Amino acid sequence: MGSGSATPLQRITNDQLGLRVETNDSWIHSRTGISERRVSGPKENLAELSYQAADLAIQMAGWDPNSIDLVLLATSTPDDLFGSAPKVQAKLGAKEAVAFDLTAACSGFLFALITAAQFLRGGSMRRALVIGADQLSRWVDWDDRRSCVLFGDGAGAVALEATTGENDGLIGFKLKSDGDRGHCLNLHQIEEFNPLIDGVNHQRGGFSPIQMNGQEVYKFAVREVPGILQELLSANDTLPESLDWLLLHQANKRILDAVADRFAIPHEKVLSNLAKYGNTSAGTIPLMLDEAVRDGRVKPGDLIASSGFGAGLSWGAALFRWHGPL
Ligand code: UT7
Repeated sequence: MGSGSATPLQRITNDQLGLRVETNDSWIHSRTGISERRVSGPKENLAELSYQAADLAIQMAGWDPNSIDLVLLATSTPDDLFGSAPKVQAKLGAKEAVAFDLTAACSGFLFALITAAQFLRGGSMRRALVIGADQLSRWVDWDDRRSCVLFGDGAGAVALEATTGENDGLIGFKLKSDGDRGHCLNLHQIEEFNPLIDGVNHQRGGFSPIQMNGQEVYKFAVREVPGILQELLSANDTLPESLDWLLLHQANKRILDAVADRFAIPHEKVLSNLAKYGNTSAGTIPLMLDEAVRDGRVKPGDLIASSGFGAGLSWGAALFRWHGPL
């Protein structure tokens, strides 16, 4: 019924990154399609970006905040490890809503969308806000040129409303995980044990910066994303040519192109804004959707195939129609 997004004000261009690590615009742009990314400043914490995105989605949907039943925040970078969703719920004034976080890295938004849909389809809830937001700038090793060039901060949100079966915009979905391949992309708890009392040690809290095997993640994405999309389209008797848009997690332009080519989908039908924001993890899909809804590319009734993929490893796909406000 509505969408919204928010990004921090501070921009870092590829050339600026070259002042910090040995890299340049030509390498980053040709290998990833990214030109710049956003990095959060002091007042732009995760809850604030999420709130801004969610508030815009509520406004587009025309909802009274008191009518919202669920605020589901997909993030791997909460301000508070106990959860940031309740903070967003309070700022929105969504007094009747239950709010909690869901962690599935770059697949987070898609996993949260499907989770929320189950509450709506089950009949226990009527209105849900699904937010995808991440602030990976906190956890990137800014001296590791193999990973720091990829990531940025951002948030997006959608407003979902229960409907009758025949009007259900969520046509199909598939979700997958493979923990055996999880070592390719991590944001690990530090392994530091400190003496506590009487020979008992305790583990100190804290996380190491992101560690990534870029080539392995790349191979995973170009293999699994077409695979899951093919399963999804076949299961729903949908031909690739009937899609209006392909909306993939914005990780790398080469991955987007490879997936589109596999289905012979023209590149004009592939939504992409990663040049401006890089990989904002759980934020990419709703951030892109909101941009395309607001500039009129995505119209009510458009059929969209979406896929998210990343750490876990986890990946998923959903086939849906954009409805828009009444
Ligand atoms: O949400 C999922 C998050 N993760 C991803 O999406 C990552 C997926 N993987 C990728 O997007 C790509 O693997 C990267 C963009 C990370 C890397 O591209 P690549 O074509 O796989 O490059 P590579 O790792 O094979 O490196 C090629 C060369 C290496 O130099 P040598 O060994 O050939 O001399 C690297 O040291 O490029 C060098 N290199 C760089 N050079 C300039 C690596 N990073 C940089 C850099 N600037 N930032």
